Amino acid sequence: MKAICPGSFDPVTHGHLNIIERTATLFDDVLVAVGRNSAKNYLFSPDERVAMLSEACAGMANVQVTLLDGLLVDFCRAHDVGAIVKGLRFGGDFEFELQMAQMNHALSGIETVMLPTSARWAHLSSTMIREVAGLGGDVSQFVPDSVDRRIAAKVAERRGSGR
Ligand code: PNS
Repeated sequence: MKAICPGSFDPVTHGHLNIIERTATLFDDVLVAVGRNSAKNYLFSPDERVAMLSEACAGMANVQVTLLDGLLVDFCRAHDVGAIVKGLRFGGDFEFELQMAQMNHALSGIETVMLPTSARWAHLSSTMIREVAGLGGDVSQFVPDSVDRRIAAKVAERRGSGR
């Protein structure tokens, strides 16, 4: 069966990668789909997020990275995806993910599998990483090296343009 790991990945963290690796052991094929959450302001463009994920997932043989346009359930139907996989860090994640899982099931019948995040990465969030990095903090322990370099370049670019 093919599974999908959808998310914003702004940027991808070791927590996301842990969920993707574990999904790749449970399913035959995995699509990692970079989506747009209309409630969020992104630091990286969709193409940059796809590029960062592609580098980080290069060693995972049954994992492909793609852009997600439109409704997740339509994308799943079009790409023969049998299950949505999401990581759960704490109770707040569960409430939000439960609502999305129920909506996606009502729309299409697709199931959502929720994996508990590894305790090692449970405190991570892309939002916090953006904030710490934007204020000059070191986030290198939370993201792959290639992502850390891109964050540093993006923060420098934003500082240069006064944003
Ligand atoms: O990492 P995020 O921001 O929690 O990811 C949210 C994402 C992109 C997975 C979600 O917003 C999504 O599925 N977007 C696609 C559009 C869609 O189907 N929305 C309805 C979800 S019930």
